[in-house]
Amino acid sequence: MTEDTILYQGAEAKICRSEYLGLDVVQKRRISKSYRIKNIDDRLILYRTKEEAKLIAEARNHGVSVPTIYDVDLEKGIITMDYLKGKRVKDILNDLSEEERADICKKIGENIAKFHNNNIIHGDITTSNMILMDDKIHFIDFGLGEKNSELEAKGVDLHVLMEAIDSTHSKYSNCFKYVLDGYKKELKEDANLVIRKIEEIIKRGRYR
Ligand SMILES: Nc1ncnc2c1ncn2[C@@H]1O[C@H](COP(=O)(O)OP(=O)(O)O)[C@@H](O)[C@H]1O
Ligand SMILES: [Mg+2]
Repeated sequence: MTEDTILYQGAEAKICRSEYLGLDVVQKRRISKSYRIKNIDDRLILYRTKEEAKLIAEARNHGVSVPTIYDVDLEKGIITMDYLKGKRVKDILNDLSEEERADICKKIGENIAKFHNNNIIHGDITTSNMILMDDKIHFIDFGLGEKNSELEAKGVDLHVLMEAIDSTHSKYSNCFKYVLDGYKKELKEDANLVIRKIEEIIKRGRYR
């Protein structure tokens, strides 16, 4: 077995590329925080690992592309999953043609609707948490996600993406419009209710 390489070091987790039963995998290893009481820290890591694995599995059942999970170690806080050999949407979106960009953004919106239809809230929809592989948008990092059927939760989920697009892809702010086109097409409930929530959230932010 080859040495594991660290792909990414975040505040909450470390992403390592590794090998598992001969497969090319990544391990998301949650990090203990020394400033948290050990017992609380252990429980938090266990809870987040379990929630993330559950949400990924559930999203897959509803037709959203996500990494295949091979193993979940709750005690150590490690999710072992497929290494997605694609490109982060964040790194490619700005370099696409307008037509390609519109197409990808619509697909993003359709996928978000697929999980929202099942009350799965991602919690951190940014273009860093999407990988384009085999012409499909794969969603990763459900670490801040939850199950929630409220319009407010769905609105907040999309608002996070709106802000991410504004800051990372500011020249292409029409991207969010395309996301909403895809979202409207696929959402089972009335998407205008969610869009109205987003407008409310924007207003709230202005007066804060
Ligand atoms: N299954 C995967 N395949 C390929 N790259 C991944 C995978 N999971 C995570 N990564 C890479 O690691 C980065 C951080 O992973 P992520 O789950 O988003 O952690 P964090 O919660 O710290 O943001 C991602 O932006 C992506 O570049
Ligand atoms: Mg992330």
